[in-house]
Amino acid sequence: MITPAKLKRLAERHGTPLFVIDHDAIRENYRQFRRYLPRVQVYYAVKANPDPAIVRTLYKEGASFDVASMPEFMIVHENIRHLSARRRQDWIWDKIIYANPTKPTETLEKLNRYKPLVTFDNLEEIRKIRRHAPNAGLALRLRVPNTGAMVELSSKFGAAAGEAVDLILEADKAGLVVEGISFHVGSQTTNFQNYVQALNLTANVFKEARDRGYTKMNLIDIGGGFPAPYDATVKPLKELAKVINGEIDRLFPKDIQILAEPGRFIAASAGYAVSKVIGKAVRDGKTCYYINDGVYHTYSGVIFDHCKYPIHAFKKGPTEICSVFGPTCDALDVVSMAENLPNLERDDFVYSTNIGAYSHASATYFNGFPPATVVHVNV
Ligand SMILES: Cc1ncc(COP(=O)(O)O)c(C=O)c1O
Repeated sequence: MITPAKLKRLAERHGTPLFVIDHDAIRENYRQFRRYLPRVQVYYAVKANPDPAIVRTLYKEGASFDVASMPEFMIVHENIRHLSARRRQDWIWDKIIYANPTKPTETLEKLNRYKPLVTFDNLEEIRKIRRHAPNAGLALRLRVPNTGAMVELSSKFGAAAGEAVDLILEADKAGLVVEGISFHVGSQTTNFQNYVQALNLTANVFKEARDRGYTKMNLIDIGGGFPAPYDATVKPLKELAKVINGEIDRLFPKDIQILAEPGRFIAASAGYAVSKVIGKAVRDGKTCYYINDGVYHTYSGVIFDHCKYPIHAFKKGPTEICSVFGPTCDALDVVSMAENLPNLERDDFVYSTNIGAYSHASATYFNGFPPATVVHVNV
């Protein structure tokens, strides 16, 4: 945890907008995951925050990685360049999953030489993989309930349970090996029942596949969705882990390998944004602050991630409801229409916590404003 006083000192030293990543928090979140879900191999979902320094820290911790594009694959690959070709190959097979169910053929061609594990969820993808990446191992992405998740994924990804085994058998017929099933319950899932239902659906697909003669599946990838502690209503990972561990032990034999792809849980609480007030106006009686970071930049999660990040002031004093706008000329650049802040002046700093995931990752250069400067602490 970085104290407000330290954040302020960093902003004074490095300027704003500033994006601070605390590597102690990255390590602690990873270790917590390992502690509470000991049967689970942790593949960090690089998309949440692809900063190479985060990937490096997690690599040193022994983490595995979920990548969804060739550039993400190469960020991870950078860390294993020093290994012999043989060891590199083993490492990739054991520790990378390419978990984007739809892959461009050019990407498949580049991936093929690495013999990776990839996900798929339809017939067309089987045809593409067979032709362009026949060396890949497969995991079928299953559609599962995303009820109540902050970011729902099930309308875009996943084969229906009723067609799952047909697809597995088609892949088998195409000479590919389906190693197991993957799913995603939706990002920031606070409804733990989503995991229970997904694991039960997966167990049914395993059983049907066996009944129909397919016995090569040996892994389950329980995806991401593990909630970050955005507010006090979010239950701790320990409680979710109890539910998941119970279902896994009840439904699957010990020799089935369990993977997870947490992104948000690892990165969110490690990130802080510090910006400063660059303008102030009163509109219809409400104070409006203009800051030098916004939804085209570190606060991009407000749009893309359906996330809210409370704005905090370093200054103390009586507060009033106000609006906080980003620096661009676009009216969409609204960080918040209702924040409680003390009376701020130009150049006063403000900050947000829990902003490490899906934030800087989708920052743009819109309107000529570059993404925030990144500072790494406790590396
Ligand atoms: C396939 C896949 N795996 C993992 C993740 C990471 O999910 P989360 O950040 O909710 O842990 C995502 C996020 O969209 C995803 O699409």
